[in-house]
Amino acid sequence: MSVLIKGGTVVTAGKTRRADVLCDNGKIVEVGPGIDAPAGADVIDAGGQYVMPGGIDPHTHMQLPFMGTVASEDFYTGTAAGLAGGTTMIIDFVIPNPQQRLMEAYEQWREWAEKAVADYSFHVAVTWWDDTVSDDMETLVRDHGVNSFKHFMAYKGAIMATDEILVNSFMKAVELGAITTVHAENGDLVYRLQQKIYDMGITGPEGHPLSRPPEVEGEAANRAIRIAEVLNCPLYVVHVSCRQALEAITRARNEGQRVFGEVLAGHLLVDDSVYRDPDLERAAAHVMSPPFRSPEHQVALWRGLKAGNLQTTATDHCCFCADQKAAGKDDFRLTPNGTAGIENRMEVLWHHGVSTGKLTLNEFVKVTSTNAAQIFNIYPRKGSVSVGADADLVVWDPAASKTISVKTHKQNVDFNIFEGMTVQGCASHTLSAGKVVFADGDLRVERGAGKYVNRPPFAPYYDALNRQAELATPTKVDR
Ligand code: URP
Ligand code: ZN
Ligand code: ZN
Repeated sequence: MSVLIKGGTVVTAGKTRRADVLCDNGKIVEVGPGIDAPAGADVIDAGGQYVMPGGIDPHTHMQLPFMGTVASEDFYTGTAAGLAGGTTMIIDFVIPNPQQRLMEAYEQWREWAEKAVADYSFHVAVTWWDDTVSDDMETLVRDHGVNSFKHFMAYKGAIMATDEILVNSFMKAVELGAITTVHAENGDLVYRLQQKIYDMGITGPEGHPLSRPPEVEGEAANRAIRIAEVLNCPLYVVHVSCRQALEAITRARNEGQRVFGEVLAGHLLVDDSVYRDPDLERAAAHVMSPPFRSPEHQVALWRGLKAGNLQTTATDHCCFCADQKAAGKDDFRLTPNGTAGIENRMEVLWHHGVSTGKLTLNEFVKVTSTNAAQIFNIYPRKGSVSVGADADLVVWDPAASKTISVKTHKQNVDFNIFEGMTVQGCASHTLSAGKVVFADGDLRVERGAGKYVNRPPFAPYYDALNRQAELATPTKVDR
């Protein structure tokens, strides 16, 4: 079945033009003016609307087992909620328990994800180290389309990666042509601060940000960056929430290092006053790491996004309902960390980014899909509107408006961090693999229709880089 999107303005990372888009058999088969609808095609009237690549959320945690519970949003409900907001692909995380084989965890996550209604891929976390981890990294890159490995520098006593683990894993990633990613917070410092704050008698959600100040994030970001520099390893810093971490990334990029930064819609738009809410349930609903920050950090993050020092936007969609958050009611350290947002990322970024003039249309496309596709090596299959690309598209109505609410959202969680925010500009239609899966407020998804997306390694490039490094001076490259 083919679908013709007619009369819209096609926006990509590189240009904006009036064009129709014809999709057939899951792919984009023609882009240009005046395309005639083939017999039997579905025609979407996109007059007055934009046609853009579907969003890619490079940071989600569907049905994650975490902090003694399991995230409430699963791969079915979560990818469906994403489609309702114009996001057509997620990159989720396989997180092995320490001592668990990476391959075993990977197979488990693949099984959980079979019910997804949109395409998905996986970063795999390295939470411990021995020869089997190294072997499994190789198997994942060679045979399973994984090209990114994640390291949690926080969560001491659980999944935290020590410097030794970072060094071993980064070296292996370079050899394999994979990219490394980090959750940058100094886990030892967080652990000590949490203890100190709790012992002072601060047991409620306000203790959470106090135990994770921006310096703790800045230190870890800089440490990961410098380790990556020494090892000549590409690095992607997830959920950059503060000026200190952004400065570390910006400095390294100015020095020519291959470092990327991701910012969450939540960190751009929600500030730390939420932790002082007298309604403790509401305050706990905002517990996530790194925490929401004071407004000056939001100003810095928007600047980083505009300047291109932060390349991607994500949500870290990791949902826990009030009864789950209640685990921390007497001790903030036990509150499951995570907040939602996959359904709202594109519309809040449009409203606060494009409509305010902070982002151009093309920059919006870059930070919502194209840059993620390029960094994680699936471009132009994803993140483009071009012949041969997957027909994952969003038709965007800049005139439509809505007020975000837990009462109407499709996410499987009882809280929305953007509650009450009125946005102008939202998805009117979303196409996944050439099928209309969301139209005018209604989802038309098919369980299991989402496909696993292989992401090839960057091996030829890094082989060449390593050869160059061998030929150059044996010490650090001059800056
Ligand atoms: O609080 C968060 N971010 N929860 C999900 C796990 C992580 O750290 O990304
Ligand atoms: Zn994280
Ligand atoms: Zn996360």
